Amino acid sequence: MSNSEQTLSIIKPDAVERNLDSEIKLMFKNKGFKIVQEKKIQIEKSEAERFYKVHETKPFYKDLCEYLSSGPIVVMILEKENAVLANRELMGATNPKDAIDGTIRKKYGLSIDKNSVHGSDSLENAKLEIDFFFKD
Ligand code: CMP
Repeated sequence: MSNSEQTLSIIKPDAVERNLDSEIKLMFKNKGFKIVQEKKIQIEKSEAERFYKVHETKPFYKDLCEYLSSGPIVVMILEKENAVLANRELMGATNPKDAIDGTIRKKYGLSIDKNSVHGSDSLENAKLEIDFFFKD
C-alpha cells in the first residue's frame, strides 16, 4: 500500500555557507526522496520567530531565530513513502554528537544549533511548514 507523504526540509545557514547544499540534496535523492519544490531564500528574524513559535518558551528560542535568519537557507518540499519519518532518520539526532553514521547531521552538523538541517517532526507540522514557505 502506498503511503506517499510530503515533508519540509531546510538546509540551514551553516550548511549553505559551506556550500553543502548540493551534497545534502544528493543524500536525499539517494534515499529516494523527490524534491518537489525548492528555493534559496533569506528570512527575517520575525519570520523565523513565527516558524519556530512552538519553541517560544524554550531558553534557546532567541538564538535559534537569530541563527535561522542569519544567512541564506534552502527550503524544500520532499516526497517519498513515509517521508516525515524517513527524513528524520536521514537527518539523525538533533545534536550531531548523538547522530549515527550515515546521517546528515553526523556528517555535516557542527553543534546542536548549527546542525545543518531542519525537518518536520510530524505529518501535521509538515503541512503547516510547507504552507508557511510555499503557500502564495
Ligand atoms: P530543529 O530541528 O531545526 O528544531 C529546533 C532547533 O532548535 C533544533 O533543530 C536545534 O538546532 C535547536 N536547538 C538548540 N538547542 C536545543 C535543545 N537544547 N534542544 C533541542 N533543540 C535545540
